Amino acid sequence: MDSTDTPGQWPLVARQWLQLGPPLRPGPMDTAIVRTLIERWCDVAEARYLILGVTPEYHAMAVAAGSVQAIDRTPEMIRYVWPGQPSQAETGDWRQMPWQTPAFDIALCDGGLQLVGYPDGLSAVARELHRVLLPDGLFIARLFTPPETAETPEDVLQDLLKANIPNLNVLKLRLGMAMQSDAESGTALRDVWSRLHDAAGSWPELAERLSWPLDHLLAIEAYRESPARMHYFTPDQAIAVFERSGFRHLDSASGDYMLGTQCPTLCFRRL
Ligand SMILES: C[S@@+](CC[C@H](N)C(=O)[O-])C[C@H]1O[C@@H](n2cnc3c(N)ncnc32)[C@H](O)[C@@H]1O
Repeated sequence: MDSTDTPGQWPLVARQWLQLGPPLRPGPMDTAIVRTLIERWCDVAEARYLILGVTPEYHAMAVAAGSVQAIDRTPEMIRYVWPGQPSQAETGDWRQMPWQTPAFDIALCDGGLQLVGYPDGLSAVARELHRVLLPDGLFIARLFTPPETAETPEDVLQDLLKANIPNLNVLKLRLGMAMQSDAESGTALRDVWSRLHDAAGSWPELAERLSWPLDHLLAIEAYRESPARMHYFTPDQAIAVFERSGFRHLDSASGDYMLGTQCPTLCFRRL
């Protein structure tokens, strides 16, 4: 079993969901981008949506526009975070989906492709999406991509201690990306925890120094024992994998918010 085959931090994250926010969760600009891409590229009146994950913001969008089905492998995420009916959320792996024939017009994924391994896991998800999406269907995904100019972990930690990082959601992304040597290896979440813990002194001291609520900082504890890795590949790397798997890249857009350019939304057509 490799690190992408474990539930990782998600059972704990489900219990701390309210501490998670943009850019790790989609903000209003991201949902507006998804709506615009759908209006521009999909002409199905009552689309059948598939959500990879249980993203509540996507559930709201899909139920207003058609029918919705989610797939997520963590039962706690379905129980505590999914706002829809339990029957609309399948417990399963994106790399081996349960549908036997194409059944969806649009598939959405927010930040989940970083979790499946690169390039093999990403290719497996692309193959499965090609199988379950109808011809001409859309796949729209927000990615977490490395900055054009790489940072070192020391740069990020110095910025943190100067109180230049507004919250844990920004910190997790910047530090995780700065610690990665290449997309294939990714960054182990427990290494992010250790690096921050070594720099912090104690969590209450760090929270006070940063003027962050202690509960917010303590959400980092979900990373402490997590064997999961995040793989930060570039948009071009994602496009290459999807185009090899029977998709065409149609469009990309990013929101105007902190780290927005590193959280682009890509839209693909299933050929
Ligand atoms: C969608 S991602 C990122 C969170 C996201 N930014 C959000 O707000 O929705 C998180 C979810 O991915 C799920 N997950 C990770 N790898 C998976 C896989 N291979 N198959 C199914 N679910 C997976 C986890 O269980 C978790 O619920």
